[in-house]
Amino acid sequence: MIILVINGPNLNMLGQRDKEHYGEKTLDEIKQMLQNRVNELDISVKLKFFQSNCEGALIDFIQQNRESDGLIINPGALSHYSYALADALRDFPGRKAEVHLSDISRREDWRAKSVTAEACDRIIMGKKEKGYLEALEWMVKSIK
Ligand code: DQA
Repeated sequence: MIILVINGPNLNMLGQRDKEHYGEKTLDEIKQMLQNRVNELDISVKLKFFQSNCEGALIDFIQQNRESDGLIINPGALSHYSYALADALRDFPGRKAEVHLSDISRREDWRAKSVTAEACDRIIMGKKEKGYLEALEWMVKSIK
């Protein structure tokens, strides 16, 4: 089973940016945490990680990895306005979970709506890095 873990703009700055909303962990620590969980679960899952600050690079990555079983994505601020990314997600045939570290429904009005989440099967928010683990566990169960 191949699961993509995709992070959008500014998520490479985790650990340094707005820790109150996004937590203390760096993106590398979150990646390691996900890999450790896969090892613990003793399942044959290959995680493929990708981060970019560019909308087009995220879309290219999704298109180039269409054969994967599922994807976990935190599109960052693109969630709130990128219909192009939403369409790329719609065209991806596997299972899709959107994760937000913060609770976007309880912040500024412009953050409350996610156009990309409308193209996903699940949205998990407000659980900081634990949201990625929840997405992974849900995905592994629902694909099996
Ligand atoms: C975020 C929420 C977005 O509004 C913000 O632009 C981010 C991070 C989150 O994980 O809570 O970059 O996606």
